[in-house]
Amino acid sequence: MTKKIAVIAGDGIGKEVTPVTVNVLKAAGADFEYTDFDLGGERYLKDQFVLDDDTVKELRGFDAILLGAVGHPDVTPGIIERGLLLKLRFDLDLYINRRPFTSPNHDFEVIRENTEGVYLGEGGVLRKGTANEVATQGSINTRLGAERCIRYAFEIAQNRQQKRLTLVHKTNVLIYAGDLWERTFNEVAREFPDVETDYNHIDAACIHFVERPQKYSVIVTDNLFGDILTDLGGAVSGGIGMAASANLNPERTGPSLFEPVHGSAPDIAGQDKANPIAAIMSGVMMCDWLGEMESANRIKKALVDINIAGKKTSDIGDQVVNNLQS
Ligand code: NAI
Ligand code: MG
Repeated sequence: MTKKIAVIAGDGIGKEVTPVTVNVLKAAGADFEYTDFDLGGERYLKDQFVLDDDTVKELRGFDAILLGAVGHPDVTPGIIERGLLLKLRFDLDLYINRRPFTSPNHDFEVIRENTEGVYLGEGGVLRKGTANEVATQGSINTRLGAERCIRYAFEIAQNRQQKRLTLVHKTNVLIYAGDLWERTFNEVAREFPDVETDYNHIDAACIHFVERPQKYSVIVTDNLFGDILTDLGGAVSGGIGMAASANLNPERTGPSLFEPVHGSAPDIAGQDKANPIAAIMSGVMMCDWLGEMESANRIKKALVDINIAGKKTSDIGDQVVNNLQS
């Protein structure tokens, strides 16, 4: 049956890489029907609309959401990112963020917890703008939240050739949240005796990502560490324009959301310069999730000998489509 895809191209380069991705999915023969949603910073500047509960309800009727990037330089930071992207992650309970990284040298995946930590936005400010200003920003960590993410990561690790899972945290400083994560990790590990386990502090993981990323198979980490570490993962795997991601609701009680790791990149927006591979690979992850394996494999094959150096966004898209049609 044809699957219904909600498309949120968003802002900046999201508007450039998303149409390219949809063209590639069409050329690969994926059995999808696409509906565009005009959401993001530009929409907000037009009529102050970010995302309401009715729209979330409408989105629940889709099989998946394909998102480009949101965020606009003329909009106060946070309004769109929190009101749109995080609202979707929370409301649709997209608690797993899968971010795979490959290069000729390494092949690993980061599983980022996607619904807790500092991203819940607990905190407040007192005496704003004065010399006595106080700001707090809390990190919410629940046993259930950590456990379901860690168990999912173990399942991913168990299905890989290299059955190894590394917990990344900062247990030496974040003694409450880190302890909860570490104890949960060690307890869940007992259910997966064939998976080798390891632990790295987040700062050390940054060094390893640069110096010996091939040591990793699967990494599980919290929301903020995962956000930061995966930009670095992109940078050491051919650039941020290569990094794809899937925001998953593993119970499939609603649509999952597929998006490149990068943002709207206002510095290169409108110049046909963005690398669309991250967005296309996010489309591939969407195909995998929705059972369109043949299209997923065809696109992966079509990407193998793609030359992106110095190429325009649209030309890269055309190259991939040509490969699919040849
Ligand atoms: P960014 O990821 O948009 O850009 C960081 C740097 O990477 C820039 O120099 C940009 O030119 C480059 N870059 C990013 N994607 C690229 C691609 N496909 N090809 C070539 N170069 C690429 O992060 P930044 O600048 O911190 O954020 C811009 C806006 O995007 C902000 O409003 C931010 O909040 C938002 N954002 C949205 C995300 C999302 O929609 N999921 C994720 C990250 C940021
Ligand atoms: Mg990020």
